[in-house]
Amino acid sequence: MNLPPYEIFPAISGDKISLRQILAADIKDLIEISFYNSVQATTLQQATEMHDRINKDYYNGKTIHWGIADNLTNKIIGTCGYYRGLDKGAGELGCVLLPQFRGQGFMTSAMMLAIDFGINNIGLKRIWAITTQQNAKAIKLLERLNFVKIADLEDSKIEYELRQNV
Ligand SMILES: CC(C)(COP(=O)(O)OP(=O)(O)OC[C@H]1O[C@@H](n2cnc3c(N)ncnc32)[C@H](O)[C@@H]1OP(=O)(O)O)[C@@H](O)C(=O)NCCC(=O)NCCS
Repeated sequence: MNLPPYEIFPAISGDKISLRQILAADIKDLIEISFYNSVQATTLQQATEMHDRINKDYYNGKTIHWGIADNLTNKIIGTCGYYRGLDKGAGELGCVLLPQFRGQGFMTSAMMLAIDFGINNIGLKRIWAITTQQNAKAIKLLERLNFVKIADLEDSKIEYELRQNV
């Protein structure tokens, strides 16, 4: 296992998007997609505090949270990362796009980079994601990435897993 934090924050380049560290200057664009413990930020100050907490979790080895940057503009269009389970060799993958960047394939590309990093750099043996039965876009995304539904949880939540042959 190669857990965070890393000497250099991992930046990963894809064709249309890249995964990179979120900087203070990015946060004003990300207020509506800033969450911590499922609470959504409504102000710049709240979003900044949440990103500070997420950074602390990264330095404590618990998470890795990337900004998804559009390669043409270097602007952050969404976020993704591993938020739980790393200490047990597993990773809960989460993601969110700003609404204006949905429906263009950006998250599929971002998740492929995050999954590859999780398996080949962190050494994860299991990757899972939790969504709800109503979240058709998330279900479609996960199934496109070969995740398989493994459990119905309370409150209409469902768990998907990416099975590894490792
Ligand atoms: C879940 C979420 C990230 C999915 O976003 P998305 O835009 O559907 O996903 P992608 O960026 O991969 O785009 C895929 C869509 O773009 C379309 N698309 C258009 N051009 C494309 C291209 N060049 N390449 C690939 N896909 C393209 C695909 O057909 C697909 O649309 P469809 O679902 O109608 O078939 C988004 O709905 C979101 O942020 N939701 C709120 C947070 C959330 O629910 N997170 C999930 C937690 S598990």
